[in-house]
Amino acid sequence: MSRHDEPIVLGIETSCDETGVGIVRGHTLLANTVASSMDEHARFGGVVPEVASRAHLEAMTPTVEGALTAAGLRFSDIDAVAVTAGPGLAGALLVGVAAAKAYALGLGVPLYGVNHLAAHVAVDQLEHGPLPKPSVALLVSGGHSSLLLVPDVAQDVISLGSTVDDAAGEAFDKVARVLGLPFPGGPHIDRAAREGSGAAVAFPRGKYDDGTLDFSFSGLKTAVARWVEAREAAGETVPVADVAASFQEAVVDVLTRKALQACARYDVKDLLIGGGVAANSRLRAMAQERCDAAGVRLRVPRPGLCTDNGAMVAALGANLVAAGVRPSTLDIPADSSLPITVVNV
Ligand code: KG4
Ligand code: ZN
Repeated sequence: MSRHDEPIVLGIETSCDETGVGIVRGHTLLANTVASSMDEHARFGGVVPEVASRAHLEAMTPTVEGALTAAGLRFSDIDAVAVTAGPGLAGALLVGVAAAKAYALGLGVPLYGVNHLAAHVAVDQLEHGPLPKPSVALLVSGGHSSLLLVPDVAQDVISLGSTVDDAAGEAFDKVARVLGLPFPGGPHIDRAAREGSGAAVAFPRGKYDDGTLDFSFSGLKTAVARWVEAREAAGETVPVADVAASFQEAVVDVLTRKALQACARYDVKDLLIGGGVAANSRLRAMAQERCDAAGVRLRVPRPGLCTDNGAMVAALGANLVAAGVRPSTLDIPADSSLPITVVNV
């Protein structure tokens, strides 16, 4: 039983390179503290798992304390601890899961091991209130691109489609590298694209008319690399802004098309977009246009809640507490390939 009208939940996220600690009261955000090890990975052009695990270990205690201070709370105020149990990098997940178990045991409160992707969906409630049931969710990040039917984020998440190769964010990162932009590439492509034309180069749109709700970005990524190589071989300068805009247009066109196809197919009137790529300005704009045309309501959390953070984990934890879902046992594993259909372990 909660000691408060609405439970105060501490959420811990360590699935990739962000050590995120969030605190919510029900669906009110009290703190969202993030320590990122991105700078340590940038020179490698991608996240190095061992480096991420060590950084989580070092950042965990100060980040938890930072979140409590930001919320003006003490450990004794916490009613439950939620943690990302998967999917993600095994060693990185392990640090968060071990810490969450220790906090839950030490504080004598229940532990909820949750799915990272479901948490990306749940976080929107902190900004836009309870999720309509059902909703369709498009999750686009560095590790995942999925379309989900979400009858109830606390207990029922159904996979409608996913990428068959690269994740959308991964494609942004790889194309950025080809264009000589820093890692992670998404925000840099977004910025460069504002100076270019999305219609400059007709890049291929994978699985556009195949009738499935799956994605493919590997062909597009290769097409961009070949196009750039051909310009360089001919001794011409590469029009970075136009290539960035045209690549981005192709990704965003496919993502929004399939998301609205999912809404139509399942007769759902609410679409949520989450994950790091949801911060993309062109994705937000095109999604809004196409949702308006289709009579679908669009929800996109603000960028700070789209990228990995602890508040999303706390938000889902609060849903689980409210739904009376049984807490996790203290021997739950970190599961790097936890399926999306498993909301909590
Ligand atoms: O959700 P997230 O923080 O971590 C994962 O779970 O992967 O997503 C990170 C991904 C990176 O690939 C990054 O390039 C991409 O999100 N990203 C963006 C933008 N901001 C971040 N992609 C496109 N446009 C952006 N503005
Ligand atoms: Zn994520």
